[in-house]
Amino acid sequence: VITKVKARQILDSRGIPTVEVDLYTNKGMFRASAPSGATSGMYEAIELRDGDKGTYLGNGVSRAVKNINEKICEALVGMDPTLQAHVDQAMIDLDKMEKKNELGANAILAVSIAACKAGAAEKEATDLSGKTNLNLPVPAFTLISGGKHAGNNLAIQEIMILPVGAKKFEEAVQMGSETYHHLKAVITEKYGAHECNVGEDGGLAPNVARHVFREGLDLVKEAIDRTGYKERIKIALDVAATDFCIGTKYDLDWKSPNKSGLNFKSVEDMIEMYKELCTDYPIVSIEDPFDKEDWDHVKYFSGLGICQVLGDDLLMSNPKRIERAIRETACNALVLKVNQVGTVTEAIEVVKMAKDAHWGVVVSQRSGETEDSFIADLSVGLATGQIKAGAPCRGERLAKYNQATKVIELTGTLKHEGDGVAAVIGLD
Ligand code: PGA
Ligand code: ZN
Repeated sequence: VITKVKARQILDSRGIPTVEVDLYTNKGMFRASAPSGATSGMYEAIELRDGDKGTYLGNGVSRAVKNINEKICEALVGMDPTLQAHVDQAMIDLDKMEKKNELGANAILAVSIAACKAGAAEKEATDLSGKTNLNLPVPAFTLISGGKHAGNNLAIQEIMILPVGAKKFEEAVQMGSETYHHLKAVITEKYGAHECNVGEDGGLAPNVARHVFREGLDLVKEAIDRTGYKERIKIALDVAATDFCIGTKYDLDWKSPNKSGLNFKSVEDMIEMYKELCTDYPIVSIEDPFDKEDWDHVKYFSGLGICQVLGDDLLMSNPKRIERAIRETACNALVLKVNQVGTVTEAIEVVKMAKDAHWGVVVSQRSGETEDSFIADLSVGLATGQIKAGAPCRGERLAKYNQATKVIELTGTLKHEGDGVAAVIGLD
């Protein structure tokens, strides 16, 4: 049983306060912490911040910590941590708000994850899916960062690689790391070492010029060529197009101080551009290709069947939006961010919804992360098939990839081994 829950404020990978929890049972102490995004949307659970501008610029989480140490601790002591749904429901009932803003989604999530770890230790298992044969996910490594995650002029948020031809997770990590280092060399040769700074999730962040998509993609393609892995590595994009949608246009120069207005694209231009890019580069997955409220064009684009179309800002891991997207066949894969939905139980529920609709599922990090590696276990435990945890670089990103590598020592092979990309992205 849960004997004590104790929280504290720590700093995340951006140096911004977040919540860490120690949950005690008869089996020991189980620790978890909450991540935080840069593109937080209005449909996601709300993290509680102090708002006192004199302390941590208003970002302190002492109220969330206090809520755990007093209210949540009192409600949970004596409960069985293997009954995850009961533990999570107790916190939802205590909070009463749809977006968990009373106790704070950061408080609730950290406790929920700690309880999951405690429950797993009790059951001596990490499997949440009820299956005995665990599959490891294909990692999406961020190689180039842009958008809100970096200070360069790249409009889109991430250019990632998927080592779909890897036979083992370890090999996928090796392929990701080697490509990353080749990319660093390519950028150094082309622009100089000063363009090798990194973005929030460890992706390299060179200032790429005019044809922002193509120049970044050419760099990545060159790096893949240098590895010799050829078609065993595919490319994925997170466009995060909501960030640069102005009315009905998309401003590819949105981060430039002297906006020329010459790089505005209509939604039709964007569709044409994606089609061309998918022909010219081995792109198999595109996340948020349009504004988060533009359901019609996402539907049209995913209907073309060119690539996996991921809903992140579109869905915000929100069950109502996922349900609508399934009903309207708006996209064909879910980005699951546990802190957007707020508890492990609700995360499992939305993964189930997505799987029942034969969607792909990517368990995802946030740009503000901690060393907590739980999402790796979640991805393996729910057999989601894909995980997105940033670059193969920086401790808080590697915590997840390294954890997945350790899980392979217990069991499992890479999901869809040898099946090719179509199976990986659910288009077969
Ligand atoms: P965020 O973005 O964590 O900064 O919101 C991550 C993503 O868009 O995948
Ligand atoms: Zn995204």
